[in-house]
Amino acid sequence: MKVQACLTLFGSLALFTATNAVHIKRHHAQLEGEDWIQSIPHILAANPQALPEQWFDQKIDHFSHKTSVFKQRYFLNSTYFKPGGPVYLYSPGEGPARPVGGGQLRNLAQATNGLIVGLEHRYYGKSLPTAQSTFEGMKYLTVNQGLADFANFIKKFKHNGVNSKTKWALVGGSYAGGQASWGRQKYPELIHAALASSGPVQAQADFYEYDLTLTEAIPCSKDLHRVTKYIDGILDKGNKKEILSLKTTFGLQNITDNADFAFAYTDILAGLVQYYKPAAIDPFDAFCKPFKTAKSVQDKLKVWGAYISNQVTGPDSLHFYDYEGMNKNLAHDDTKGWYWQTCIELGYFQTAPRGSLPRVRSKHCDLKQQLKACEKIFGRKMTPNIKKFNREHKGWHVRTSRIFYADGEIDPWRKLSVNSPHAPKRQSKPSNPLAVIKKGSHCTDLGSDSPFDTQSLKDTRKAQVETFKKWML
Ligand SMILES: *[C@@H]1O[C@H](CO)[C@@H](O)[C@H](O)[C@H]1NC(C)=O
Ligand SMILES: *[C@@H]1O[C@H](CO)[C@@H](O)[C@H](O)[C@H]1NC(C)=O
Repeated sequence: MKVQACLTLFGSLALFTATNAVHIKRHHAQLEGEDWIQSIPHILAANPQALPEQWFDQKIDHFSHKTSVFKQRYFLNSTYFKPGGPVYLYSPGEGPARPVGGGQLRNLAQATNGLIVGLEHRYYGKSLPTAQSTFEGMKYLTVNQGLADFANFIKKFKHNGVNSKTKWALVGGSYAGGQASWGRQKYPELIHAALASSGPVQAQADFYEYDLTLTEAIPCSKDLHRVTKYIDGILDKGNKKEILSLKTTFGLQNITDNADFAFAYTDILAGLVQYYKPAAIDPFDAFCKPFKTAKSVQDKLKVWGAYISNQVTGPDSLHFYDYEGMNKNLAHDDTKGWYWQTCIELGYFQTAPRGSLPRVRSKHCDLKQQLKACEKIFGRKMTPNIKKFNREHKGWHVRTSRIFYADGEIDPWRKLSVNSPHAPKRQSKPSNPLAVIKKGSHCTDLGSDSPFDTQSLKDTRKAQVETFKKWML
């Protein structure tokens, strides 16, 4: 999600590329346990067969009687499994599946003798129901098809020690955290419990609260507001040369459309907040320090520009903003898949707050810019049907038991979770524990322990393990 959503780095992109900040890039490493993800190449070097891909014959269209199947990829980890133990079905959401066995999943499996299954989401990685990513080819990529994939998988999955009495829990972070909640709500007889980490369960088209969270979280956000107003002045009144020079300061001169540039220069920055982690040198302090020394707005602009251009290391870093390029490439691509989901159903468009609200983003970041991006990518006008989506999946009003909701206090996505300050007030209770991790960002609860973990993060991970012991054993 850009909901890198929970850190992303999509698909073919390198694991630790610092791009698509908010999107899928670093996301997966963070929420699947960085130590585990880093150990995978070593395990494979010693034994290329150690972490085999497995394949499930999945229905292409769950809502048609006449349908054929595609190969859906999954990974298994039975290290902690004892017959009679539960199954943790992990969704990597909008990116490729990888071998599972790290982070909080490991803790849950270990505490309950559980089996871990990582089931790739249709249309991502190698799980491709159609040949091409044309408008027509994308039509089986919907939230409901993805949830039905879980149900069908659970019904047909065969493994020694797993039977019809086995309890299944759905686990995911970011969009997949939403899936965990929607899936448990939709298939309660198959999915016994869920862990929804940073799940934006409420769909929303004009998601300007994301930007408000950047203002709340970044200590020097006032400097950013000033620079952005100055940039808007250049975009409004500057000549071609001035605008090109502005884009070049950010390393974004390849983005021709001005509104698309306006989106990119804050979107890349947003990773600072979405993936914030306490460290020996606090990332916010490091980011803000040069803004203090820079006095004029022009100098502050250069500081921001340098921060972004350092992350723009090649065409891959701009892939998320290359709408025409995605249109032309008819191979499946995780980034394009995620756009499809937002353009058709979920929205989640990160826009600039309007009126007197403070904004880190340029005023050119509006719904129009985002919907135009959808049109450029898929060649047709698209508008996500948010009302229908929230009516069906109940948004913030989900009332299903045995869902653990965890969010980071400064994660911009929290504003669409049940832990949002805008959601109807609810109390944490044993059947629906709620946790907001102090200074926590996107999906941090799913990651591995680190010496800089806050007490609040430690407490949340512990509460999850205790809760799943009660629910799954
Ligand atoms: C399962 O997870 C454990 C713990 O991280 C790891 O040591 C093991 O290599 C994993 N096995 C597979 C098949 O992924
Ligand atoms: C920008 O475009 C030039 C010319 O096509 C290309 O060489 C360069 O790699 C591009 N840079 C990025 C960051 O996309």
